[in-house]
Amino acid sequence: MALPALLRTAKAVLSSEPVRQSLPETGLERSANALRAQGLAKHFGELKAVDGIDLQVGQGELFGLLGPNGSGKTTTIHMLTTLTRPTLGSATVAGFDVCADPVSVRRQIGLVFQESALDRNLTVAENLHFAAALYMMPLALARLRTNELLRVFNLEAKRDVPVGRLSGGMRRAVDVARGVLHRPRVLFLDEPTLGLDPINRQALWQFIARLRREEQITVLITTHYLEEATACDQVAFLNAGRIIGRGTPGYLIKELGAYVLDIEGPDSDQIAARFEPRFGAGLKTHGKVSFRVAEEHFSISRLEAEIDPRVQAMHLRRPDLNDVYLWLIHGRLGHKEQGS
Ligand SMILES: Nc1ncnc2c1ncn2[C@@H]1O[C@H](COP(=O)(O)OP(=O)(O)O)[C@@H](O)[C@H]1O
Ligand SMILES: [Mg+2]
Repeated sequence: MALPALLRTAKAVLSSEPVRQSLPETGLERSANALRAQGLAKHFGELKAVDGIDLQVGQGELFGLLGPNGSGKTTTIHMLTTLTRPTLGSATVAGFDVCADPVSVRRQIGLVFQESALDRNLTVAENLHFAAALYMMPLALARLRTNELLRVFNLEAKRDVPVGRLSGGMRRAVDVARGVLHRPRVLFLDEPTLGLDPINRQALWQFIARLRREEQITVLITTHYLEEATACDQVAFLNAGRIIGRGTPGYLIKELGAYVLDIEGPDSDQIAARFEPRFGAGLKTHGKVSFRVAEEHFSISRLEAEIDPRVQAMHLRRPDLNDVYLWLIHGRLGHKEQGS
């Protein structure tokens, strides 16, 4: 195993006690939230990488942390998994405080890093057994659990194949298997589907769904694929270290409007000036201006009489989470929060 990966793994399990045969005591009885953060912040010198965020994730929930590169997603995960100490604020995972009781937190969590933590020269089974040794799992239990996960992830035929010879999707699946080997209560997945083709991405989501069903695990995931995030129970959008929108995907999409009207033309300023009085501020992207349409019974034919020769195309569609993301990031939606 590459030294940095080994060190990371060792760091994650260091000073944790052996994993018990039965499910470990979770501390969840002390808190209905699998995860809770209040005013959590991480500063690197002048940079406020995470600038005071509040999170609340229920037990068994699939929570999506979304946002552009550099918005603070990985840093948030590092604080919640005790790999880095918050500058300000507090957080509990499975009922344990990340600062006061990091050892207990580590016992409850699984972490799949943005970059693979596997040794490409070792086989699938060897990688899992090695991880089990680091988790100090008894050998019999490690074997049992490895077999179980290879079955869940359809990797039984690849058991003795070096990880370096697997497809990207299979390798990612082994990474996830490695992260849940010790039956964590809370799993952190940092961009697990990055670089995967659509088929492999779908397969990985099916594995995650199965894990949730069979092990009632709470999952916090970061992803750039917003169509994936739509499957989350709850999402939070981060931008420059702050949460700018939060809620169920359904709520956020509904709040955006009944429709999005895309109007294409060579001069987006002109389109904006022409239609903004009617629909409110538009969002300019790639040669088109998008408008939010609140009316459920809106018909595009009503606009036809007004079409000017400079308009090349008009397209009326239902909004999705991509729209929510773009409107939030461009500051056109204001802070959106369910229940407030
Ligand atoms: N160890 C570090 N030292 C200094 N700056 C850091 C460190 N880790 C992350 N950052 C900075 O913090 C910001 C947030 O990074 P990160 O949490 O990795 O974002 P994301 O995962 O959303 O892409 C970025 O500007 C990044 O450059
Ligand atoms: Mg990241």
